[in-house]
Amino acid sequence: MRFIHLLLPALALLLAISAQAQQPPRLELCAACHGPQGNSQNPQIPSLAGQPKIFMENQLVLIREGLRDIPPMKGTLDGLKDTDLIVLAKYFSEQTPVPLAGPVDAARYERGKALARGMLCGTCHLPDYQGREQMPRLAGQHERFLREVMEEYRDKPGPGRDTVMTNALGGLNNQHLDDLAHFLAHFGKQP
Ligand code: HEC
Ligand code: HEC
Repeated sequence: MRFIHLLLPALALLLAISAQAQQPPRLELCAACHGPQGNSQNPQIPSLAGQPKIFMENQLVLIREGLRDIPPMKGTLDGLKDTDLIVLAKYFSEQTPVPLAGPVDAARYERGKALARGMLCGTCHLPDYQGREQMPRLAGQHERFLREVMEEYRDKPGPGRDTVMTNALGGLNNQHLDDLAHFLAHFGKQP
């Protein structure tokens, strides 16, 4: 086994190459819920376009293994290999997010902005809330999804959910979550 240390990087490279050459599987199925090119038309379903690749790889593994429980996605990833999930994550990370339509409430936007600054959300999600690595993009995500997912993290984080988010939202009330979701969904559309 002397050469195992040489073999492993070669194997990783091979996997990466084969992942690159593959077409993403089940795209039509994903699009039925997450929208064309991952721009969701349903306010309860998150957009995937432009999400960090690592964030999506992690979530896809958790969802496939049933560790992050998403009843509507049950079965959708069955039989997909890790390389398939990597190809899907890469595809969606490279799609361009379409900005959300809808009116911006200046007072809520400003309150959300001040809260996000004060709570240092940008230290992890980046100051423009584009996300990086395992931390999702929040800017331009559906307001309703953001609101619901934050309440879940705060009140009843399921298995597979990162406790850093439960800690980050501790002490915030529902009004705070409303304002944060409004600000983040409309980020950059300062009234
Ligand atoms: C029947 C609808 C449906 C289908 C089909 C579906 N999803 Fe989902 N997906 C959802 C919902 C709903 C959520 C969010 C659940 C929640 O509230 O936390 C989600 C969450 C996700 C997330 C986590 C995103 C985040 O920001 O937290 C990823 C990644 C994802 N889906 C990828 C996919 C991929 C890739 C496919 C195709 C293989 C797919 N989904 C098919 C409904 C669906
Ligand atoms: C210490 C780093 C850190 C801080 C600070 C932080 N987050 Fe997060 N956030 C994360 C990570 C990591 C995830 C992915 C969690 C997971 O895998 O369950 C996440 C996920 C989220 C999600 C889920 C989005 C999605 O698409 O699934 C929302 C919404 C969110 N954060 C909002 C916030 C807000 C608002 C703040 C400030 C009050 C904040 N975060 C502060 C690291 C952080």
